[in-house]
Amino acid sequence: MLTKKVEKALNKQVELEANASQFYLAMASWAETKGLEGVSSFFYRHSDEEREHMLKLIKYINERGGHAIVPSLPKPPKVFDCLSHVFQDLLDHEVMVSKEINTVVDICLKDKDYTTHNFMQWYVAEQIEEEALARHILDKLKLIGDDKGGLYLFDRDIMSMNPAKN
Ligand code: FEO
Repeated sequence: MLTKKVEKALNKQVELEANASQFYLAMASWAETKGLEGVSSFFYRHSDEEREHMLKLIKYINERGGHAIVPSLPKPPKVFDCLSHVFQDLLDHEVMVSKEINTVVDICLKDKDYTTHNFMQWYVAEQIEEEALARHILDKLKLIGDDKGGLYLFDRDIMSMNPAKN
C-alpha cells in the first residue's frame, strides 16, 4: 500500500511524463513541417517513450492500492526557433525530470517505501541515458553550426538514434 505522500509524488511524476510526451510531440510536428524527417521521427519515438513511462507509473500506482490520476496538460509551443533550441529544450526538460525523480526517490526513503524506491531505480537509470543522449546531440549540432550539408547528414543520422533503450 502506498502512503499518501508517495502516491501524490508518483501522480506528479505521471503528469511530468505526460507533459514531456506532449512537448516532444509538438517538436515532432514542428520538425515535420520543416522537412526534417529524421528529427521528427526521433521526436515521435521520444513522445511514445514518454507515454510508456507515464503508463508504467499509472499501472504501478493502481497495483499498489493507489489511484493514478490522468492529468490535464498545458498546451505545448507550436513553433521553435531552430534545431539547437529544440534540443536545448529537450535537455533542459530532461534535467528537470531527473530532479523530480530524485525528489520522488527521496520521499520513498523518508516514508520507508523500499518497494517504490526499487521501482523508481528504472527511472533513475533511464534519465542518465536520456540526458547523455541530449548532450551528445547538442554537441553534434554545435559542430555543424550553419553548414547545410552537415544538417542534412545530421537529419539522416538521427533516424537511427533511439531516444531510450526500451
Ligand atoms: Fe520519461 Fe524523458 O523522462
